[in-house]
Amino acid sequence: MIFTPVNKPAKPPIKNVILAITGGIAAYKSAFLARLLIKSGFKVRVIMTEGAQAFVTPLTLQALTGNEVHTELLDESAETGMGHIELAKWADLMVIAPASANTLARLAMGMADDLLATVCLATAAPVMVVPAMNQQMWAHPAVQLNTQTLGDLGYTLIEPARGEQACGDVGAGRLPEPEVLLEQVLHFATRQSQPQILAGKQVTITAGPTIEAIDPVRYLSNHSTGKMGFALARACRDAGAEVTLIVGGKVNLPTPFGVTREEVLSANDMLQAATESAESGCDIFIATAAVADYRTRDAAPQKIKKTQESMTLELVKNPDILATISQEYPEIFMVGFAAETQDVEKYARSKLAAKQLDMIACNDVSRSDIGFASDDNAMTVFFANQYKKQPVPLEKASKDNIAQRLVTLISDTLS
Ligand code: C5P
Repeated sequence: MIFTPVNKPAKPPIKNVILAITGGIAAYKSAFLARLLIKSGFKVRVIMTEGAQAFVTPLTLQALTGNEVHTELLDESAETGMGHIELAKWADLMVIAPASANTLARLAMGMADDLLATVCLATAAPVMVVPAMNQQMWAHPAVQLNTQTLGDLGYTLIEPARGEQACGDVGAGRLPEPEVLLEQVLHFATRQSQPQILAGKQVTITAGPTIEAIDPVRYLSNHSTGKMGFALARACRDAGAEVTLIVGGKVNLPTPFGVTREEVLSANDMLQAATESAESGCDIFIATAAVADYRTRDAAPQKIKKTQESMTLELVKNPDILATISQEYPEIFMVGFAAETQDVEKYARSKLAAKQLDMIACNDVSRSDIGFASDDNAMTVFFANQYKKQPVPLEKASKDNIAQRLVTLISDTLS
């Protein structure tokens, strides 16, 4: 039930955030969120309901944000500082976390019975609502109905997390961790202010290494971290695409908010997941995975004992996922990656043709400052002849920056 506006024109960047806290045990997490928002460069002002103040003191939030905390609607001294209308106008974004069942009900009815509810009515800024409460309360039809109504009214709802609750219950209703909430705010902010050049597009990305079993405890793999694929997933998502990220091997990176992640192990599993994704409708396929070229002919069913002085593993070639998808689904825009140590252009062009790609991004892996485990990358992008485009060099930059530039190139080439 995540409600995110799509296809909206870009707006000015979000700078001023009102963090509104209501009464719930999760209120303490909002103190961390306030800190993280400030560290990310936002200006933060806090509104606390009466209930919230029973869990955390305004003094804590004042110390963290460096600003007076707003608690009263009809208080002369409060209104002389920043009154409720000024506060509503100041905000570029309002985040209500945690949002109690009571506040959900009040907002769904359009009430203006305290400062928080009044500012919600008075602000033109988007409002993100993060409900958090006991799992039984969250499941109650009245709460669900109010949440649905808030979605219909244009509020952006963030679904509560599942897990063990402060009361001992287990289920949905936890406030997501502050780091997760920060990512959602950043995603929202980027999406608002960034042109949605891939709006309506379905993108499938392969990332990470594959794992080819030797026996139940051993495998063949490589050092790929998946960072480039994850950066591309974020960039495509921020450009408005719906993203499926097929992750091989053992990649420890957090799933980007709003991205569908599928975990696979071997190249054959990855091909199957990629085929299913292509089958279910995919416009752009980006292969960043470092797929193992070979797998063992037959993985041993039991752990191999070290009885022999030497042993030979027979390897067979793995399927080429990119080439297979390209051949079977010619309508999909195909983007490949290549890592070369010499004759970069020659090899890039021959891969472009052999795998029938639209674009290939090639990096020189003889350089130690970029590539595999690094946070930086540099590459040259080559295009299929039909596009009549000169190669584009992408100078060394963070993988996020390179990913954003690749997304722009993909969108330019597609249109
Ligand atoms: O042939 P090479 O491994 O250099 O090609 C690299 C490109 O092909 C990358 O985009 C990689 O993700 C993709 N690839 C693949 N399946 C393979 C091998 C490579 O999708 N078996």
